[in-house]
Amino acid sequence: MYRTHTCGELRISNINQEVTLSGWIQTIRNLGGMTFITLRDRYGLTQLVFDENTSDDLKSEVTKLGREYVIKVAGKVIERSSKNLKMPTGEIEIIVNELVVLNKSEIPPFTIEDETDGGEELRMKYRYLDLRRNPVRESLKLRHKIGQEIRKFLDSKDFMEIETPYLIKSSPEGARDFIVPSRMNPGEFYALPQSPQTFKQLLMVSGFDKYFQIVKCFRDEDLRADRQPEFTQIDCEMSFVDQEDILNTFEGLAKYLFSEIKGLNFEEKFPRITYDDAMKFYGSDKPDMRFDMKFKEITEIAQGKGFTVFDSVEYIGGICAKKCAEYSRKQLDALTDFVRKPQVGANGLVYVKYNADGTFKSSVDKFFSQDDLKIWAEAMNAVPGDLLLVLAGNRDKTQSALNDLRLEMGDRLGLRDKDKFAPCWVVDFPLLEWNEDDKRFYAMHHPFTSPKVEDVSLFDTDPGKMRANAYDFVINGVEIGGGSIRIFDAELQQKMFAALGILKEEAEEKFGFLLDAFKFGAPPHGGIAFGFDRWCSVFGGSESIRDYIAFPKNNSGRDVMINSPSKVETKQLDELMLKLKEQKE
Ligand code: AMO
Repeated sequence: MYRTHTCGELRISNINQEVTLSGWIQTIRNLGGMTFITLRDRYGLTQLVFDENTSDDLKSEVTKLGREYVIKVAGKVIERSSKNLKMPTGEIEIIVNELVVLNKSEIPPFTIEDETDGGEELRMKYRYLDLRRNPVRESLKLRHKIGQEIRKFLDSKDFMEIETPYLIKSSPEGARDFIVPSRMNPGEFYALPQSPQTFKQLLMVSGFDKYFQIVKCFRDEDLRADRQPEFTQIDCEMSFVDQEDILNTFEGLAKYLFSEIKGLNFEEKFPRITYDDAMKFYGSDKPDMRFDMKFKEITEIAQGKGFTVFDSVEYIGGICAKKCAEYSRKQLDALTDFVRKPQVGANGLVYVKYNADGTFKSSVDKFFSQDDLKIWAEAMNAVPGDLLLVLAGNRDKTQSALNDLRLEMGDRLGLRDKDKFAPCWVVDFPLLEWNEDDKRFYAMHHPFTSPKVEDVSLFDTDPGKMRANAYDFVINGVEIGGGSIRIFDAELQQKMFAALGILKEEAEEKFGFLLDAFKFGAPPHGGIAFGFDRWCSVFGGSESIRDYIAFPKNNSGRDVMINSPSKVETKQLDELMLKLKEQKE
Protein backbone atom coordinates (compact mmCIF):
# COMPACT_ATOMS: atom_id res chain seq x y z
CA MET A 1 0.00 0.00 0.00
CA TYR A 2 1.36 3.40 -0.97
CA ARG A 3 -0.58 5.52 1.48
CA THR A 4 -3.05 5.42 4.33
CA HIS A 5 -3.47 9.21 4.27
CA THR A 6 -2.69 12.15 2.03
CA CYS A 7 -0.11 14.80 2.90
CA GLY A 8 -2.82 17.32 3.75
CA GLU A 9 -4.87 15.14 6.02
CA LEU A 10 -3.29 14.45 9.39
CA ARG A 11 -4.27 16.49 12.44
CA ILE A 12 -3.73 16.47 16.20
CA SER A 13 -6.55 13.90 16.46
CA ASN A 14 -4.34 11.42 14.57
CA ILE A 15 -1.59 11.44 17.24
CA ASN A 16 0.00 8.05 17.85
CA GLN A 17 -1.42 6.50 14.69
CA GLU A 18 0.90 4.49 12.45
CA VAL A 19 0.56 5.94 8.94
CA THR A 20 2.00 5.58 5.46
CA LEU A 21 2.40 8.58 3.16
CA SER A 22 3.69 8.97 -0.39
CA GLY A 23 4.71 12.15 -2.15
CA TRP A 24 7.44 14.47 -3.38
CA ILE A 25 10.20 15.94 -1.23
CA GLN A 26 9.77 19.71 -1.14
CA THR A 27 12.57 20.59 1.31
CA ILE A 28 15.21 18.80 3.38
CA ARG A 29 16.59 20.58 6.44
CA ASN A 30 19.47 19.19 8.45
CA LEU A 31 19.62 20.57 11.99
CA GLY A 32 22.33 18.92 14.05
CA GLY A 33 21.25 15.38 14.74
CA MET A 34 17.80 15.85 13.25
CA THR A 35 16.58 15.93 9.65
CA PHE A 36 13.26 17.46 8.66
CA ILE A 37 11.64 16.75 5.31
CA THR A 38 8.48 18.38 3.98
CA LEU A 39 6.57 15.88 1.91
CA ARG A 40 4.16 17.21 -0.69
CA ASP A 41 1.24 15.85 -2.63
CA ARG A 42 -1.84 17.42 -4.22
CA TYR A 43 -3.49 17.76 -0.83
CA GLY A 44 -0.81 19.55 1.15
CA LEU A 45 2.45 19.27 3.07
CA THR A 46 3.45 17.09 6.01
CA GLN A 47 6.62 17.32 8.05
CA LEU A 48 8.68 14.15 8.43
CA VAL A 49 11.35 13.80 11.17
CA PHE A 50 14.39 11.65 11.51
CA ASP A 51 16.01 12.05 14.95
CA GLU A 52 18.55 10.47 17.30
CA ASN A 53 16.39 7.33 17.58
CA THR A 54 16.38 6.79 13.81
CA SER A 55 18.38 3.69 12.82
CA ASP A 56 21.78 4.23 11.22
CA ASP A 57 20.65 2.50 8.01
CA LEU A 58 17.73 4.83 7.66
CA LYS A 59 19.90 7.86 8.49
CA SER A 60 22.25 6.90 5.70
CA GLU A 61 19.30 6.49 3.28
CA VAL A 62 18.16 9.98 4.18
CA THR A 63 21.50 11.50 3.22
CA LYS A 64 20.97 10.23 -0.34
CA LEU A 65 17.62 11.99 -0.81
CA GLY A 66 17.14 15.10 -2.91
CA ARG A 67 14.45 17.61 -3.77
CA GLU A 68 11.51 16.21 -5.74
CA TYR A 69 12.42 12.58 -5.05
CA VAL A 70 9.26 10.49 -4.84
CA ILE A 71 9.23 8.58 -1.59
CA LYS A 72 7.01 6.40 0.53
CA VAL A 73 7.37 6.62 4.31
CA ALA A 74 5.81 4.86 7.25
CA GLY A 75 5.88 6.11 10.80
CA LYS A 76 4.04 7.42 13.81
CA VAL A 77 2.12 10.71 14.06
CA ILE A 78 3.45 12.81 16.93
CA GLU A 79 2.66 16.26 18.26
CA ARG A 80 5.09 18.94 17.10
CA SER A 81 6.95 20.84 19.77
CA SER A 82 7.10 24.00 17.64
CA LYS A 83 3.78 24.13 15.87
CA ASN A 84 3.24 25.90 12.54
CA LEU A 85 -0.33 27.11 12.70
CA LYS A 86 -0.20 28.46 9.14
CA MET A 87 -0.08 24.87 7.88
CA PRO A 88 -3.22 22.70 8.17
CA THR A 89 -0.98 19.79 9.26
CA GLY A 90 1.28 22.11 11.26
CA GLU A 91 0.47 20.67 14.68
CA ILE A 92 1.86 17.23 13.90
CA GLU A 93 4.82 15.52 12.30
CA ILE A 94 5.70 11.93 11.37
CA ILE A 95 8.55 10.21 13.08
CA VAL A 96 9.67 7.96 10.26
CA ASN A 97 10.73 4.33 10.69
CA GLU A 98 10.52 3.14 7.09
CA LEU A 99 11.53 4.84 3.85
CA VAL A 100 11.27 3.66 0.24
CA VAL A 101 12.56 5.74 -2.66
CA LEU A 102 9.94 5.26 -5.39
CA ASN A 103 11.76 7.45 -7.87
CA LYS A 104 14.71 9.82 -8.01
CA SER A 105 14.58 13.32 -9.45
CA GLU A 106 17.06 15.56 -11.15
CA ILE A 107 17.50 18.91 -9.46
CA PRO A 108 14.43 20.87 -10.63
CA PRO A 109 15.10 23.97 -12.77
CA PHE A 110 13.31 26.20 -10.23
CA THR A 111 12.16 25.88 -6.65
CA ILE A 112 8.77 24.27 -6.38
CA GLU A 113 7.36 26.41 -3.61
CA ASP A 114 4.69 29.13 -3.34
CA GLU A 115 7.30 31.81 -4.04
CA THR A 116 9.49 30.40 -6.78
CA ASP A 117 12.75 31.64 -8.28
CA GLY A 118 11.72 30.49 -11.78
CA GLY A 119 10.95 33.02 -14.52
CA GLU A 120 7.75 32.69 -16.56
CA GLU A 121 9.32 31.17 -19.70
CA LEU A 122 11.19 28.54 -17.66
CA ARG A 123 8.06 27.64 -15.73
CA MET A 124 6.13 27.31 -19.02
CA LYS A 125 8.79 24.95 -20.39
CA TYR A 126 8.47 22.79 -17.29
CA ARG A 127 4.78 23.41 -16.80
CA TYR A 128 4.27 19.96 -15.24
CA LEU A 129 6.63 21.06 -12.44
CA ASP A 130 4.98 24.46 -12.11
CA LEU A 131 1.68 22.62 -11.70
CA ARG A 132 3.13 21.02 -8.54
CA ARG A 133 3.19 24.47 -6.95
CA ASN A 134 0.41 25.26 -4.55
CA PRO A 135 -0.90 28.52 -6.11
CA VAL A 136 -1.04 27.02 -9.60
CA ARG A 137 -2.75 23.88 -8.35
CA GLU A 138 -5.25 25.98 -6.39
CA SER A 139 -6.13 27.86 -9.59
CA LEU A 140 -6.93 24.61 -11.37
CA LYS A 141 -8.92 23.47 -8.36
CA LEU A 142 -10.99 26.65 -8.60
CA ARG A 143 -11.54 25.99 -12.31
CA HIS A 144 -12.67 22.44 -11.57
CA LYS A 145 -15.08 23.64 -8.90
CA ILE A 146 -16.57 26.38 -11.10
CA GLY A 147 -17.00 23.85 -13.93
CA GLN A 148 -18.79 21.40 -11.63
CA GLU A 149 -21.12 24.09 -10.27
CA ILE A 150 -21.96 25.30 -13.78
CA ARG A 151 -22.93 21.78 -14.80
CA LYS A 152 -24.96 21.34 -11.62
CA PHE A 153 -26.87 24.59 -12.15
CA LEU A 154 -27.56 24.13 -15.85
CA ASP A 155 -28.58 20.49 -15.40
CA SER A 156 -31.02 21.55 -12.69
CA LYS A 157 -32.57 23.97 -15.19
CA ASP A 158 -33.01 21.21 -17.81
CA PHE A 159 -30.11 22.20 -20.04
CA MET A 160 -28.63 19.27 -22.02
CA GLU A 161 -24.88 19.11 -22.58
CA ILE A 162 -24.30 18.21 -26.22
CA GLU A 163 -20.95 18.03 -28.00
CA THR A 164 -20.44 19.58 -31.42
CA PRO A 165 -17.65 18.88 -33.92
CA TYR A 166 -14.16 20.39 -33.85
CA LEU A 167 -13.47 19.81 -37.54
CA ILE A 168 -15.83 22.22 -39.22
CA LYS A 169 -16.03 24.66 -42.11
CA SER A 170 -14.01 27.83 -42.42
CA SER A 171 -16.08 30.98 -42.20
CA PRO A 172 -14.70 34.38 -43.11
CA GLU A 173 -16.46 36.41 -40.40
CA GLY A 174 -14.99 37.06 -36.97
CA ALA A 175 -11.36 36.29 -36.12
CA ARG A 176 -8.99 34.26 -38.29
CA ASP A 177 -9.63 30.51 -38.41
CA PHE A 178 -7.11 27.80 -37.65
CA ILE A 179 -7.36 25.52 -40.66
CA VAL A 180 -6.67 21.81 -40.91
CA PRO A 181 -5.88 20.11 -44.23
CA SER A 182 -7.86 17.00 -45.09
CA ARG A 183 -5.81 14.02 -46.36
CA MET A 184 -8.88 12.25 -47.68
CA ASN A 185 -10.05 15.34 -49.54
CA PRO A 186 -6.87 16.77 -51.05
CA GLY A 187 -6.83 20.52 -51.46
CA GLU A 188 -9.66 20.93 -48.98
CA PHE A 189 -9.55 22.14 -45.40
CA TYR A 190 -11.47 21.94 -42.21
CA ALA A 191 -11.45 24.84 -39.77
CA LEU A 192 -11.38 24.57 -36.00
CA PRO A 193 -14.48 26.27 -34.55
CA GLN A 194 -14.17 29.83 -33.24
CA SER A 195 -17.32 28.86 -31.34
CA PRO A 196 -20.08 26.29 -31.85
CA GLN A 197 -22.39 29.13 -32.95
CA THR A 198 -24.09 27.60 -35.99
CA PHE A 199 -24.26 24.13 -34.44
CA LYS A 200 -26.08 25.33 -31.37
CA GLN A 201 -28.56 27.11 -33.61
CA LEU A 202 -29.08 23.88 -35.56
CA LEU A 203 -29.70 22.08 -32.26
CA MET A 204 -32.51 24.57 -31.64
CA VAL A 205 -34.00 23.66 -35.03
CA SER A 206 -33.74 20.02 -33.87
CA GLY A 207 -35.82 20.84 -30.81
CA PHE A 208 -33.20 20.68 -28.01
CA ASP A 209 -34.61 23.82 -26.46
CA LYS A 210 -31.95 24.23 -23.74
CA TYR A 211 -28.38 23.38 -24.75
CA PHE A 212 -25.03 23.96 -23.14
CA GLN A 213 -21.48 22.80 -23.62
CA ILE A 214 -18.19 23.54 -21.89
CA VAL A 215 -16.21 23.62 -25.07
CA LYS A 216 -12.84 24.48 -26.60
CA CYS A 217 -12.86 27.31 -29.15
CA PHE A 218 -10.02 28.32 -31.44
CA ARG A 219 -9.17 31.78 -32.75
CA ASP A 220 -6.05 32.84 -34.57
CA GLU A 221 -5.79 36.35 -33.14
CA ASP A 222 -3.18 38.47 -31.39
CA LEU A 223 -2.79 37.35 -27.81
CA ARG A 224 -3.09 39.28 -24.56
CA ALA A 225 -3.39 38.44 -20.89
CA ASP A 226 -7.06 37.60 -21.37
CA ARG A 227 -6.77 35.88 -24.76
CA GLN A 228 -5.51 32.46 -25.74
CA PRO A 229 -5.62 30.88 -29.20
CA GLU A 230 -7.54 27.97 -27.72
CA PHE A 231 -9.83 28.83 -24.86
CA THR A 232 -12.97 27.44 -23.29
CA GLN A 233 -16.51 28.70 -23.53
CA ILE A 234 -19.56 27.88 -21.49
CA ASP A 235 -21.73 27.90 -24.57
CA CYS A 236 -25.51 28.10 -24.12
CA GLU A 237 -28.58 28.40 -26.32
CA MET A 238 -32.33 28.40 -25.63
CA SER A 239 -35.51 28.30 -27.73
CA PHE A 240 -38.77 30.20 -27.23
CA VAL A 241 -37.02 32.98 -25.35
CA ASP A 242 -36.59 36.70 -25.67
CA GLN A 243 -33.67 38.79 -24.41
CA GLU A 244 -35.25 39.19 -20.99
CA ASP A 245 -35.50 35.38 -20.53
CA ILE A 246 -31.84 34.93 -21.42
CA LEU A 247 -30.63 37.70 -19.12
CA ASN A 248 -32.69 36.35 -16.23
CA THR A 249 -31.60 32.74 -16.73
CA PHE A 250 -27.90 33.56 -16.88
CA GLU A 251 -28.04 36.19 -14.19
CA GLY A 252 -29.33 33.22 -12.17
CA LEU A 253 -26.22 31.22 -13.13
CA ALA A 254 -23.92 34.13 -12.23
CA LYS A 255 -25.60 34.67 -8.86
CA TYR A 256 -25.42 30.95 -8.15
CA LEU A 257 -21.67 30.93 -8.90
CA PHE A 258 -21.07 34.08 -6.83
CA SER A 259 -22.81 32.41 -3.95
CA GLU A 260 -21.29 28.91 -4.25
CA ILE A 261 -17.76 29.94 -5.15
CA LYS A 262 -17.26 33.34 -3.52
CA GLY A 263 -19.88 33.19 -0.76
CA LEU A 264 -21.38 36.44 -2.06
CA ASN A 265 -25.11 36.94 -2.33
CA PHE A 266 -26.37 39.52 -4.79
CA GLU A 267 -29.95 40.32 -3.83
CA GLU A 268 -30.50 43.12 -6.36
CA LYS A 269 -30.73 42.70 -10.12
CA PHE A 270 -27.41 43.30 -11.86
CA PRO A 271 -27.22 46.82 -13.29
CA ARG A 272 -27.82 47.19 -17.02
CA ILE A 273 -26.22 49.87 -19.11
CA THR A 274 -26.76 50.56 -22.80
CA TYR A 275 -23.80 50.40 -25.14
CA ASP A 276 -24.22 54.13 -25.86
CA ASP A 277 -24.10 55.03 -22.17
CA ALA A 278 -21.18 52.70 -21.55
CA MET A 279 -19.21 54.54 -24.23
CA LYS A 280 -20.37 57.97 -23.05
CA PHE A 281 -19.61 57.48 -19.36
CA TYR A 282 -16.78 54.94 -19.40
CA GLY A 283 -15.39 54.98 -22.96
CA SER A 284 -15.59 51.20 -23.01
CA ASP A 285 -18.15 48.50 -23.73
CA LYS A 286 -16.82 46.67 -20.68
CA PRO A 287 -16.96 49.27 -17.92
CA ASP A 288 -15.34 48.61 -14.58
CA MET A 289 -18.23 49.50 -12.27
CA ARG A 290 -16.34 48.95 -9.02
CA PHE A 291 -15.91 52.70 -8.88
CA ASP A 292 -17.78 55.71 -10.20
CA MET A 293 -15.57 58.43 -11.76
CA LYS A 294 -17.82 58.70 -14.85
CA PHE A 295 -16.77 60.92 -17.75
CA LYS A 296 -18.33 64.31 -18.14
CA GLU A 297 -18.31 65.98 -21.53
CA ILE A 298 -17.48 69.71 -21.33
CA THR A 299 -17.00 70.47 -25.04
CA GLU A 300 -19.53 73.28 -25.11
CA ILE A 301 -18.44 75.03 -21.93
CA ALA A 302 -14.72 74.70 -22.60
CA GLN A 303 -14.64 75.99 -26.16
CA GLY A 304 -14.46 79.59 -27.37
CA LYS A 305 -11.98 80.88 -24.78
CA GLY A 306 -9.03 81.16 -27.12
CA PHE A 307 -7.34 77.87 -26.21
CA THR A 308 -6.76 76.58 -29.74
CA VAL A 309 -6.06 72.99 -28.64
CA PHE A 310 -9.66 72.86 -27.38
CA ASP A 311 -11.37 75.02 -29.96
CA SER A 312 -10.68 72.78 -32.94
CA VAL A 313 -11.65 69.42 -31.45
CA GLU A 314 -14.76 67.24 -31.57
CA TYR A 315 -14.79 66.26 -27.92
CA ILE A 316 -13.55 67.58 -24.57
CA GLY A 317 -14.23 65.48 -21.52
CA GLY A 318 -12.81 64.61 -18.18
CA ILE A 319 -12.99 62.74 -14.93
CA CYS A 320 -13.04 63.99 -11.38
CA ALA A 321 -10.54 62.31 -9.07
CA LYS A 322 -11.84 62.74 -5.55
CA LYS A 323 -9.47 64.23 -2.95
CA CYS A 324 -6.53 64.44 -5.39
CA ALA A 325 -6.07 68.24 -5.53
CA GLU A 326 -2.85 67.80 -3.59
CA TYR A 327 -1.22 65.87 -6.43
CA SER A 328 2.38 66.98 -6.87
CA ARG A 329 4.00 68.18 -10.08
CA LYS A 330 5.71 64.79 -10.30
CA GLN A 331 2.45 62.88 -10.00
CA LEU A 332 0.79 65.06 -12.65
CA ASP A 333 3.77 64.65 -14.97
CA ALA A 334 3.51 60.88 -14.54
CA LEU A 335 -0.16 61.04 -15.55
CA THR A 336 0.70 63.16 -18.58
CA ASP A 337 3.35 60.62 -19.59
CA PHE A 338 0.76 57.88 -19.10
CA VAL A 339 -1.85 59.40 -21.42
CA ARG A 340 0.84 60.10 -24.05
CA LYS A 341 1.87 56.45 -24.28
CA PRO A 342 1.20 55.19 -27.82
CA GLN A 343 -1.27 52.57 -26.56
CA VAL A 344 -3.27 55.31 -24.77
CA GLY A 345 -2.82 57.85 -27.53
CA ALA A 346 -3.73 61.26 -26.07
CA ASN A 347 -1.67 64.32 -27.00
CA GLY A 348 -1.63 65.82 -23.55
CA LEU A 349 -3.46 66.20 -20.28
CA VAL A 350 -5.14 69.26 -18.79
CA TYR A 351 -5.51 69.30 -15.03
CA VAL A 352 -7.52 71.53 -12.72
CA LYS A 353 -6.89 71.44 -8.98
CA TYR A 354 -9.91 72.50 -6.94
CA ASN A 355 -8.02 73.72 -3.89
CA ALA A 356 -9.38 73.34 -0.37
CA ASP A 357 -9.78 77.14 -0.14
CA GLY A 358 -12.13 77.12 -3.15
CA THR A 359 -9.60 78.53 -5.66
CA PHE A 360 -8.47 76.75 -8.82
CA LYS A 361 -5.00 76.01 -10.12
CA SER A 362 -4.82 74.54 -13.59
CA SER A 363 -2.45 73.87 -16.46
CA VAL A 364 -4.57 76.21 -18.60
CA ASP A 365 -4.82 79.21 -16.24
CA LYS A 366 -3.69 81.43 -19.13
CA PHE A 367 -6.91 80.76 -21.02
CA PHE A 368 -9.50 80.10 -18.34
CA SER A 369 -10.54 82.37 -15.47
CA GLN A 370 -11.43 81.14 -11.98
CA ASP A 371 -15.09 81.56 -12.97
CA ASP A 372 -14.61 79.44 -16.10
CA LEU A 373 -12.99 76.66 -14.09
CA LYS A 374 -15.76 76.85 -11.51
CA ILE A 375 -18.25 76.08 -14.28
CA TRP A 376 -16.18 73.01 -15.25
CA ALA A 377 -16.01 71.92 -11.63
CA GLU A 378 -19.76 72.24 -11.20
CA ALA A 379 -20.40 70.29 -14.41
CA MET A 380 -18.11 67.55 -13.13
CA ASN A 381 -19.60 67.46 -9.62
CA ALA A 382 -16.27 68.41 -8.08
CA VAL A 383 -15.88 69.80 -4.57
CA PRO A 384 -12.85 71.52 -3.02
CA GLY A 385 -10.04 68.99 -2.70
CA ASP A 386 -10.80 67.27 -6.02
CA LEU A 387 -8.69 67.08 -9.16
CA LEU A 388 -10.14 67.33 -12.68
CA LEU A 389 -8.32 65.54 -15.48
CA VAL A 390 -9.37 66.58 -18.97
CA LEU A 391 -8.58 65.22 -22.43
CA ALA A 392 -9.56 66.59 -25.83
CA GLY A 393 -9.60 65.37 -29.43
CA ASN A 394 -11.53 63.07 -31.70
CA ARG A 395 -14.53 61.67 -29.78
CA ASP A 396 -13.84 57.93 -30.03
CA LYS A 397 -10.10 58.13 -29.47
CA THR A 398 -10.41 60.59 -26.58
CA GLN A 399 -13.06 58.52 -24.83
CA SER A 400 -10.87 55.46 -25.23
CA ALA A 401 -7.88 57.34 -23.73
CA LEU A 402 -10.08 58.65 -20.90
CA ASN A 403 -11.07 55.04 -20.20
CA ASP A 404 -7.38 54.14 -19.79
CA LEU A 405 -6.84 57.19 -17.58
CA ARG A 406 -9.91 56.34 -15.48
CA LEU A 407 -8.64 52.79 -14.91
CA GLU A 408 -5.15 54.10 -14.12
CA MET A 409 -6.60 56.48 -11.52
CA GLY A 410 -8.74 53.62 -10.20
CA ASP A 411 -5.54 51.62 -9.68
CA ARG A 412 -3.66 54.53 -8.12
CA LEU A 413 -6.51 55.23 -5.70
CA GLY A 414 -6.98 51.56 -4.79
CA LEU A 415 -10.51 51.50 -6.18
CA ARG A 416 -10.07 48.29 -8.16
CA ASP A 417 -10.04 45.83 -5.31
CA LYS A 418 -9.92 42.30 -6.72
CA ASP A 419 -12.05 41.04 -3.85
CA LYS A 420 -14.86 43.41 -4.76
CA PHE A 421 -17.17 42.37 -7.61
CA ALA A 422 -19.27 44.63 -9.80
CA PRO A 423 -21.16 42.61 -12.43
CA CYS A 424 -23.28 44.33 -15.08
CA TRP A 425 -25.02 43.74 -18.39
CA VAL A 426 -24.23 45.90 -21.37
CA VAL A 427 -27.24 45.92 -23.74
CA ASP A 428 -28.43 47.48 -27.02
CA PHE A 429 -25.21 47.03 -28.97
CA PRO A 430 -25.18 48.39 -32.51
CA LEU A 431 -25.94 45.65 -35.05
CA LEU A 432 -23.25 46.70 -37.53
CA GLU A 433 -19.87 48.35 -37.37
CA TRP A 434 -18.43 50.32 -40.30
CA ASN A 435 -14.88 49.44 -41.34
CA GLU A 436 -13.25 52.39 -43.06
CA ASP A 437 -10.37 50.32 -44.50
CA ASP A 438 -12.60 47.71 -46.12
CA LYS A 439 -15.39 50.22 -46.78
CA ARG A 440 -18.03 47.79 -45.56
CA PHE A 441 -20.06 46.88 -42.50
CA TYR A 442 -19.11 44.03 -40.20
CA ALA A 443 -21.45 42.41 -37.70
CA MET A 444 -20.64 43.82 -34.27
CA HIS A 445 -21.46 40.47 -32.63
CA HIS A 446 -21.91 37.97 -35.46
CA PRO A 447 -24.04 37.71 -38.63
CA PHE A 448 -26.77 35.66 -36.89
CA THR A 449 -27.66 38.39 -34.39
CA SER A 450 -31.14 39.86 -34.79
CA PRO A 451 -31.82 43.57 -35.06
CA LYS A 452 -34.33 45.15 -32.70
CA VAL A 453 -37.79 44.83 -34.29
CA GLU A 454 -38.30 48.59 -34.25
CA ASP A 455 -35.00 49.09 -36.14
CA VAL A 456 -35.52 46.53 -38.97
CA SER A 457 -36.76 49.21 -41.38
CA LEU A 458 -33.35 50.94 -41.12
CA PHE A 459 -31.80 48.05 -43.09
CA ASP A 460 -32.64 49.94 -46.29
CA THR A 461 -32.11 53.50 -45.07
CA ASP A 462 -29.48 53.77 -42.31
CA PRO A 463 -28.04 50.34 -41.40
CA GLY A 464 -25.32 51.84 -39.19
CA LYS A 465 -28.00 53.12 -36.79
CA MET A 466 -29.57 49.70 -36.18
CA ARG A 467 -29.43 48.29 -32.69
CA ALA A 468 -29.13 44.58 -32.00
CA ASN A 469 -30.71 42.23 -29.50
CA ALA A 470 -27.21 41.64 -28.22
CA TYR A 471 -25.76 41.78 -24.73
CA ASP A 472 -22.48 41.31 -22.90
CA PHE A 473 -21.92 40.22 -19.33
CA VAL A 474 -19.12 42.15 -17.65
CA ILE A 475 -17.48 41.77 -14.25
CA ASN A 476 -14.93 44.33 -13.04
CA GLY A 477 -14.21 45.60 -16.53
CA VAL A 478 -13.70 42.13 -18.03
CA GLU A 479 -15.99 40.89 -20.80
CA ILE A 480 -17.04 37.57 -19.34
CA GLY A 481 -19.70 36.68 -21.87
CA GLY A 482 -21.68 37.79 -24.86
CA GLY A 483 -24.68 36.66 -26.81
CA SER A 484 -27.76 37.63 -28.73
CA ILE A 485 -31.24 36.75 -29.84
CA ARG A 486 -30.81 35.21 -33.26
CA ILE A 487 -32.38 35.78 -36.60
CA PHE A 488 -34.56 32.70 -37.22
CA ASP A 489 -36.11 33.72 -40.47
CA ALA A 490 -34.27 32.83 -43.69
CA GLU A 491 -35.37 36.04 -45.41
CA LEU A 492 -34.15 38.34 -42.61
CA GLN A 493 -30.91 36.35 -42.48
CA GLN A 494 -30.41 36.99 -46.21
CA LYS A 495 -31.00 40.70 -45.56
CA MET A 496 -28.33 40.67 -42.89
CA PHE A 497 -25.86 38.96 -45.23
CA ALA A 498 -26.66 41.58 -47.86
CA ALA A 499 -25.96 44.41 -45.36
CA LEU A 500 -22.59 42.75 -44.68
CA GLY A 501 -21.85 42.70 -48.38
CA ILE A 502 -22.05 38.89 -48.49
CA LEU A 503 -23.54 37.98 -51.86
CA LYS A 504 -26.38 35.48 -52.13
CA GLU A 505 -24.18 32.81 -53.73
CA GLU A 506 -21.44 33.34 -51.13
CA ALA A 507 -23.97 33.11 -48.28
CA GLU A 508 -25.31 29.92 -49.86
CA GLU A 509 -21.79 28.47 -50.08
CA LYS A 510 -20.77 29.46 -46.52
CA PHE A 511 -24.00 29.15 -44.56
CA GLY A 512 -26.35 27.26 -46.89
CA PHE A 513 -26.84 24.52 -44.27
CA LEU A 514 -28.17 27.06 -41.76
CA LEU A 515 -30.40 28.83 -44.28
CA ASP A 516 -31.75 25.42 -45.35
CA ALA A 517 -32.41 24.47 -41.73
CA PHE A 518 -34.36 27.68 -41.25
CA LYS A 519 -36.77 26.47 -43.95
CA PHE A 520 -37.88 23.56 -41.75
CA GLY A 521 -39.44 25.28 -38.79
CA ALA A 522 -36.78 27.13 -36.81
CA PRO A 523 -38.02 28.25 -33.37
CA PRO A 524 -37.25 31.70 -32.04
CA HIS A 525 -33.99 31.29 -30.16
CA GLY A 526 -31.04 33.03 -28.58
CA GLY A 527 -28.12 32.38 -26.34
CA ILE A 528 -24.87 33.42 -24.78
CA ALA A 529 -21.33 32.15 -24.35
CA PHE A 530 -19.13 32.87 -21.36
CA GLY A 531 -15.36 32.79 -21.39
CA PHE A 532 -14.70 30.07 -18.84
CA ASP A 533 -11.01 30.96 -18.46
CA ARG A 534 -11.87 34.62 -17.88
CA TRP A 535 -14.54 33.82 -15.35
CA CYS A 536 -12.01 31.70 -13.44
CA SER A 537 -9.40 34.46 -13.51
CA VAL A 538 -11.83 37.13 -12.27
CA PHE A 539 -13.00 34.87 -9.43
CA GLY A 540 -9.43 33.85 -8.68
CA GLY A 541 -8.15 37.43 -8.68
CA SER A 542 -5.51 37.11 -11.39
CA GLU A 543 -5.22 39.22 -14.55
CA SER A 544 -3.95 36.39 -16.69
CA ILE A 545 -6.17 33.54 -17.86
CA ARG A 546 -3.02 31.42 -18.33
CA ASP A 547 -2.98 30.80 -14.59
CA TYR A 548 -6.24 28.88 -14.96
CA ILE A 549 -5.23 26.76 -17.96
CA ALA A 550 -3.22 23.60 -17.28
CA PHE A 551 -1.10 23.88 -20.43
CA PRO A 552 -1.37 27.40 -21.88
CA LYS A 553 0.40 28.98 -24.86
CA ASN A 554 2.77 31.93 -24.56
CA ASN A 555 2.20 35.34 -26.16
CA SER A 556 3.49 34.14 -29.52
CA GLY A 557 0.98 31.31 -29.47
CA ARG A 558 3.67 28.73 -28.71
CA ASP A 559 3.58 25.83 -26.35
CA VAL A 560 7.22 26.00 -25.27
CA MET A 561 6.94 22.72 -23.37
CA ILE A 562 6.07 20.52 -26.35
CA ASN A 563 7.68 23.02 -28.75
CA SER A 564 4.63 23.58 -30.89
CA PRO A 565 3.87 24.70 -33.54
CA SER A 566 6.66 22.82 -35.30
CA LYS A 567 7.67 21.70 -38.78
CA VAL A 568 6.19 18.48 -40.17
CA GLU A 569 7.86 15.88 -42.34
CA THR A 570 7.79 16.27 -46.11
CA LYS A 571 5.99 12.91 -46.27
CA GLN A 572 3.14 14.34 -44.22
CA LEU A 573 2.88 17.35 -46.51
CA ASP A 574 2.96 15.08 -49.57
CA GLU A 575 0.08 13.03 -48.19
CA LEU A 576 -1.85 16.26 -47.79
CA MET A 577 -0.87 17.41 -51.29
CA LEU A 578 0.70 20.52 -49.72
CA LYS A 579 3.83 22.40 -50.71
CA LEU A 580 5.30 25.18 -48.56
CA LYS A 581 6.09 28.54 -50.12
CA GLU A 582 9.67 29.75 -49.88
CA GLN A 583 9.91 31.89 -46.78
CA LYS A 584 11.40 35.35 -47.21
CA GLU A 585 14.01 36.32 -44.64
P1 AMO B 1 -17.87 35.89 -28.22
O1 AMO B 1 -17.01 35.95 -29.43
O2 AMO B 1 -18.25 37.19 -27.57
O3 AMO B 1 -19.26 35.18 -28.56
O4 AMO B 1 -17.17 34.96 -27.16
C1 AMO B 1 -17.78 34.68 -25.91
C2 AMO B 1 -16.81 34.88 -24.77
O5 AMO B 1 -15.65 34.08 -24.94
C3 AMO B 1 -14.53 34.73 -24.33
N1 AMO B 1 -13.44 34.82 -25.33
C4 AMO B 1 -12.15 34.48 -25.10
N2 AMO B 1 -11.54 34.03 -23.99
C5 AMO B 1 -10.22 33.76 -24.08
N3 AMO B 1 -9.49 33.89 -25.19
C6 AMO B 1 -10.05 34.34 -26.34
N4 AMO B 1 -9.31 34.44 -27.45
C7 AMO B 1 -11.45 34.66 -26.32
N5 AMO B 1 -12.33 35.12 -27.24
C8 AMO B 1 -13.53 35.21 -26.63
C9 AMO B 1 -14.99 36.08 -23.87
C10 AMO B 1 -16.26 36.29 -24.66
O6 AMO B 1 -17.18 37.12 -23.99
N6 AMO B 1 -20.88 32.45 -30.36
C11 AMO B 1 -20.84 33.70 -29.62
C12 AMO B 1 -21.69 33.65 -28.38
C13 AMO B 1 -23.18 33.72 -28.64
O7 AMO B 1 -23.59 34.59 -29.42
O8 AMO B 1 -23.91 32.93 -28.02
C14 AMO B 1 -19.40 33.99 -29.22
O9 AMO B 1 -18.49 33.21 -29.42
O10 AMO B 1 -15.26 36.02 -22.48
